[in-house]
Amino acid sequence: MSPRIAVTGRIPSAGLDLLHEAGEVVAWDSLDVPSVEQVHDMVRGADAVLTLLTTKVDAAFLDAAGPRLKVVANVAVGYNNIDVAACVERGVVCTNTPGVLTDATADIAMALVLMATRRLGEGERIIRSDAPWQWGMFYMLGSGIQGNQLGIIGMGDIGQALARRAKAFGIRIAYSNREPVSPRIEADLGAKFMSQDELLSTSDVVSLNCPYSSATHHLMSTDQFRMMRPGAFLVNTARGPIVDEAALVEALRSGQIAGAGLDVFENEPAVHPGLLQCENAVLIPHLGSATQETRAAMARLAAHNAVNVLAGVAPPTPIPLPST
Ligand code: DGY
Repeated sequence: MSPRIAVTGRIPSAGLDLLHEAGEVVAWDSLDVPSVEQVHDMVRGADAVLTLLTTKVDAAFLDAAGPRLKVVANVAVGYNNIDVAACVERGVVCTNTPGVLTDATADIAMALVLMATRRLGEGERIIRSDAPWQWGMFYMLGSGIQGNQLGIIGMGDIGQALARRAKAFGIRIAYSNREPVSPRIEADLGAKFMSQDELLSTSDVVSLNCPYSSATHHLMSTDQFRMMRPGAFLVNTARGPIVDEAALVEALRSGQIAGAGLDVFENEPAVHPGLLQCENAVLIPHLGSATQETRAAMARLAAHNAVNVLAGVAPPTPIPLPST
């Protein structure tokens, strides 16, 4: 009997083609996000499921899928939508898509650094609103970044790719991470390892590039914004709930920090109403990996992961098992 493969959102054909060669595919064929009930109907009796980050994989999902399920292949590098421990308990392999979206996401982080520090969102809004404007010596001055310090929290692949870009802009790199990266990488990037508190109090721009988990929930809240330098900026391309959005709004309103560039939001797709009022916040709708090439590569890698597990072969990019 050929394996049954469910896909809980529309994905590029590069991934679907691989799946069709491996089994009978049931794929959600709409750009709307399916409801929980629709997901559960789709995954019933599946041997493999490809999930988007809008799909919650929890005990109810696993109950709905049933005992045949062997693999949950997330079409994303972040996997906070998956209860990995619950999957492991039932012998279900979980995989994600690291690597293929590193450059696209680092590009967006660098773009947000520039947009926030040079007030580009604000400038665009002025032109589009048809308000009068005129070049002026003191008109809409931003903050220069050359020689400034970018503090990267989370020096994995994306953090390092951002550091390479920032170095080319003449920016000094500081980082905090669970462990220092290798001396060779530090030397290549000219990156200095420091505690998170030191990074917050010395950086001109702080970029969040760490995974979301209970340990990083509200990693940036009132106390952390207080540690940041007045005139500093925050950029988040990781996951929304790493930032306490109410505290961020307060820090932006009070001038505690100068601005923010956000690609992700605490209660996505909802955006804190206070942020919408902050001229000094650049807000974009979770576009980190949103290029045609990257999304095709993500779909292909997720399909490859699923097909390998179904064939009894190790998947290329398994999610590390939770530590006990
Ligand atoms: C990911 O892969 O985790 C990204 O957030 C999706 O764009």
